[in-house]
Amino acid sequence: MAKCYSQVLVLPMMRIPTTRSWSAEQWLLGGMVLALAATCIGLLFGPQPPTSAHLIALALLVASLAAALLVMRVAAGRANRQMEAISRGQAGGEERAIEALRNSEAQWKEVFEHNPVMYFMVDAAGLVLSVNTFGAAQLGYTVDELLGQSVLRVFAAEDRDMVLRNVAACLDNIGRTHNWEIRKVRKDGSRLWVRENAKAVQRHDGQVIVLIACEDITERKHAENALQQSEMYLTEAQRLSHTGSFGWHVASGEIIWSEETFRIFEVERVPSIKHATVLQRVHPDDRARVQRTIDRASLDGKDFEHSYRLLMPNGAIKYVHARAHAVTNLSGDTEFIGAVTDVTARKRAEAELHEAQTNLAHVTRVTALGELAASIAHEVNQPLAAVVANAAACLRWLNRAAPDLNEARGAVRSIINDGNRAGEIIRRVRALVNKKTDQKAPLDINEVINEVTSLVQHQLQSDRVSLQLDLSPALPPVVADRIQLQQVILNLVINGIEAMQPVTDRPRQLVIRTRHDDAGQIVVTVTDCGVGIATENAERLFDAFYTTKASGMGMGLSICRSIVEAHRGRLSVTGNVGPGATFQFTLPLRQEDHAW
Ligand SMILES: Nc1ncnc2c1ncn2[C@@H]1O[C@H](COP(=O)(O)OP(=O)(O)OP(=O)(O)O)[C@@H](O)[C@H]1O
Ligand SMILES: [Mg+2]
Repeated sequence: MAKCYSQVLVLPMMRIPTTRSWSAEQWLLGGMVLALAATCIGLLFGPQPPTSAHLIALALLVASLAAALLVMRVAAGRANRQMEAISRGQAGGEERAIEALRNSEAQWKEVFEHNPVMYFMVDAAGLVLSVNTFGAAQLGYTVDELLGQSVLRVFAAEDRDMVLRNVAACLDNIGRTHNWEIRKVRKDGSRLWVRENAKAVQRHDGQVIVLIACEDITERKHAENALQQSEMYLTEAQRLSHTGSFGWHVASGEIIWSEETFRIFEVERVPSIKHATVLQRVHPDDRARVQRTIDRASLDGKDFEHSYRLLMPNGAIKYVHARAHAVTNLSGDTEFIGAVTDVTARKRAEAELHEAQTNLAHVTRVTALGELAASIAHEVNQPLAAVVANAAACLRWLNRAAPDLNEARGAVRSIINDGNRAGEIIRRVRALVNKKTDQKAPLDINEVINEVTSLVQHQLQSDRVSLQLDLSPALPPVVADRIQLQQVILNLVINGIEAMQPVTDRPRQLVIRTRHDDAGQIVVTVTDCGVGIATENAERLFDAFYTTKASGMGMGLSICRSIVEAHRGRLSVTGNVGPGATFQFTLPLRQEDHAW
């Protein structure tokens, strides 16, 4: 392995001069030798005997030559010593360079072997040419166990095709880096996820090899898988509950939707949307209200909740309920995180239930009217009898010799009044028999009470019950359905009368009170002094079909409660301090901002 990574350090070779140039001393010495030679020739071939000047010159030349030789010898010795010193230094530098090279190679080898990255070198056929110790150990092998083996050995059977494709891709693009994520199989069969970076290179000998560096990403993969799984659970849970989620960054106006939210709104998936897209889908009748809620939330940054309808492109209507919680993100901006639920199915079921309840309420109203038939007949009969009597009187006034027209007019006025009274009672009875309700309008609760009590006058008389009306004057109007409220009051009054039937030892008294309480709601109470209610039965009275009466259906109070609750009020009962019971219901004056 070390071979692959060994490096050849090319040191600059010491340059040894091959041609020599003459130094100044050598030129001087040469010149002196020539001068000496010329002097000697002059002595030999010149005039004989030589003059003393010639001899002195010769002596001086010989002396100079000797001195020059001496100086040159000294200089040459010094130069030699210098050359030796240089040679010694050069040899020491080379040794140090070789030593440094060895250290560096050892260091690199150390790094390569134990770097926490698995390195593989494979040939074009996929045989392992080298692997670092760390890489082999990670897979539970020794280096020798892997060398010369097919690299496929460390991959799962189902991933081997992918490995071959990846290696082929590297070989097709020599020098280009490729990367991928894949599972590897350890010697003990356990698996790990790796990210591999690979590149094919051509060696000096022409062989193409693939270098692969891979890092263990098992933990990251597990975290990713866990995240993916939890996202999948969340998506599935959202789909099952028909609840999508959203995030709204107020400053940018950007809204992020979950998959289910896109499904509910039937809008094509995009990374983010704006409120305009949401509003486009909102039912035109609810759009202004939704816009108001959004505007208010973006101003006050407080949690909000609202219900509205969506109008789909095919004309279908969906009912949704959205809730959002305000949070401050890391940048200090306000964001809303919310959920929007498609409650269409629930609304349909509610509508069907409401329909059934309406039908049942109608049946019980008609039944109650049946019970009151005698009373109603009496109520109608009274004005009719008065009409007949007044008509007879009128005739008498007219038949006189001198007809008394004033008296006759008075009798006719009474006839008109009585006729209207009878007509009014019939109108009220007809209204109660009418099936169609759910028409909320502002109404005076005292007026509703008077309308009901006008129908039970005879019943009160025949049961010897005195009715006391304690109605608070000038109450603000409540938004309610007149017939439904009449039904509630009628049932409470009849129940009260019936609860007092066994009472013989005290006056039978029924009191109806109205008031406006501090919480801004109208309170109506019906108090009797009848048999009263056992505490343990107090809640059962409101159960459907609970009755203690032989001819009772047990539906009266159950229907009364659903009517009152549909008006966002509450119906309850309490035992009196003395005998009897008090039924109380409330009606809020302010109707909430609801789409349906
Ligand atoms: N004012 C009251 N005092 C005592 N008991 C009462 C009073 N009002 C109702 N109850 C008890 O509650 C039961 C249920 O009343 P509810 O009006 O629901 O049905 P019901 O009067 O029995 O029959 P119906 O369906 O004809 O009204 C009664 O049967 C009675 O036992
Ligand atoms: Mg009843």
